[in-house]
Amino acid sequence: MKIISGIQPSGELHIGNYLGAIKNWLKLQADPANECLFFIADYHSITQAYNPKKKSGEILDLAIDLLALGLNPKKSVIFQQSQIPYHTELAWIFNTITPTGELAQMTQFKDKFQVMFDHFDEKHGNEKQFIDSIEDTTAENLTIKVNEQVSDLREKIKKFDNVGLFDYPVLMAADILIYKADAVPVGEDQIQHLELTRNLARRFNTKFGKTFSEPESLLTETPRIMSLTDPTKKMSKSHGEKSYIALKDSPEKIAQKIKSAVSDIGGGKDKGGDNLLSIFKAFSETKSEKSEYEKFKNNHNTGELKYAEFKPRLSELVANNFSEYRKKHAELSKNKKYVKKILAECAEKASVIAEKTLKEVKEKIGLLI
Ligand code: AMP
Ligand code: TRP
Repeated sequence: MKIISGIQPSGELHIGNYLGAIKNWLKLQADPANECLFFIADYHSITQAYNPKKKSGEILDLAIDLLALGLNPKKSVIFQQSQIPYHTELAWIFNTITPTGELAQMTQFKDKFQVMFDHFDEKHGNEKQFIDSIEDTTAENLTIKVNEQVSDLREKIKKFDNVGLFDYPVLMAADILIYKADAVPVGEDQIQHLELTRNLARRFNTKFGKTFSEPESLLTETPRIMSLTDPTKKMSKSHGEKSYIALKDSPEKIAQKIKSAVSDIGGGKDKGGDNLLSIFKAFSETKSEKSEYEKFKNNHNTGELKYAEFKPRLSELVANNFSEYRKKHAELSKNKKYVKKILAECAEKASVIAEKTLKEVKEKIGLLI
């Protein structure tokens, strides 16, 4: 199978990224029958607010992360998206066969706007709290206050609003189809983007003749890890430092975060305990860890799980899993030249495939003279 996946360089990796996607990348890379391409989606990452002075450091750090986790340039092509111009060229062509209505339905796009509204709510509380916070509650004054808040939000939307964020899934489809990939290992939040990718492949084939096959998404057993502080939301960097476990977190920090994670009393009352248990299961490698998991799981089902016992064990398991990574990350950080060289060599390999597809596409749509 030809495999492709990407990840954005926008801050530190967390265990959601690892358990939802990267763990699968490592598994797929280990099978010599697969041809694997993994890339740093830097063009995607600039659709959100960022600091241009920090971006190149984030790109390199993500490359170091991926190598430290075990991606191997002898087995996989590991590259930086913006070093291959063919992705964005194909995205432009795909733009011309994408209805705007299809993009307007994408939940990741809508979620990103939702995050902004959440910040707004955090600041202002719900409607009642908002009104309670105003001393003079005459209709006239309330109107003034509401207008102030609305213009605050309007300013934020203006800063956030850009066509790139809206068009993001079309670039993602181009990332995948430019390599004619068969399968894409991602977390659950990307499934809708894969559907759009298949629609575009089909539409292109119908209009211009068979060119692309329709790639499948590949999920892990934990395609959606939830936030530690609010288990109804997916784990993400945008919900605050305590809500996620970064791969770089020290064992002490991991223990602190898990200790304060929202849990439950079992019996399926809420998702906190289920989420922590699924993390335990995903990190259980040995026979004894697996049977330990079964014991905790049974106790949880009967409402007898002792979090004071379970949480420290979970912290240990997570921290141990990344001890090798932390060591390798520190070593590779001292050798950035080597990392840049790998990215450059891999970009050459990826370019050969991408250039060929783009030429075929240009020919099919009538641009080659
Ligand atoms: P991103 O950081 O958005 O570039 O995501 C990189 C990969 O991690 C994608 O395949 C996502 O689907 C996956 N991912 C991100 N957050 C989670 C999560 N909370 N649970 C599972 N997978 C996730
Ligand atoms: N959209 C993905 C994310 O947010 C990153 C990504 C960009 C990607 N292009 C891709 C993933 C192509 C798989 C294939 O996580």
